[in-house]
Amino acid sequence: MTNLTNEEKKFLIDLGNEARRRAYVPYSNYRVGSALRTKTGKVYTGVNIENAAYPTTMCAERVAIFKAVSDGELEFEVISVVTDNGGSPCGSCRQVLSEFGLDTIILMADGNGKLVKETTVGEMLPEAFLPQHLEKK
Ligand code: THU
Repeated sequence: MTNLTNEEKKFLIDLGNEARRRAYVPYSNYRVGSALRTKTGKVYTGVNIENAAYPTTMCAERVAIFKAVSDGELEFEVISVVTDNGGSPCGSCRQVLSEFGLDTIILMADGNGKLVKETTVGEMLPEAFLPQHLEKK
């Protein structure tokens, strides 16, 4: 598994934290920012984007993931998730991350840029439903 330096972690956390300024959160006012690094070294940021029809809101992590995938990037190394209080990625974001690998590192950080928890998708979503479950025999 990838060994990240403290500088690499800080870079992705700071990018996610900075992205939070662009979060569109008129309803919750809960700003989430994310930065995803792919195996080819590209970095995509995302913010949460809320909507007057609440359930159509999209999380920051999935915005970053979908930007990467729509750019043809399917292999991820690490994703940062930055919130005021070090909040954890929601179940839907864990599921979407699991599609692209259980080894992706997740860095959760707070609004001061402090790393609160470092883990992996596999640890955050045990017994995940995966693409191979749909493979025909
Ligand atoms: N949110 C995220 O962006 N990512 C998560 O993993 C958890 C929740 C957003 C969605 C909504 O805009 C706000 O946080 C409150 O739920």
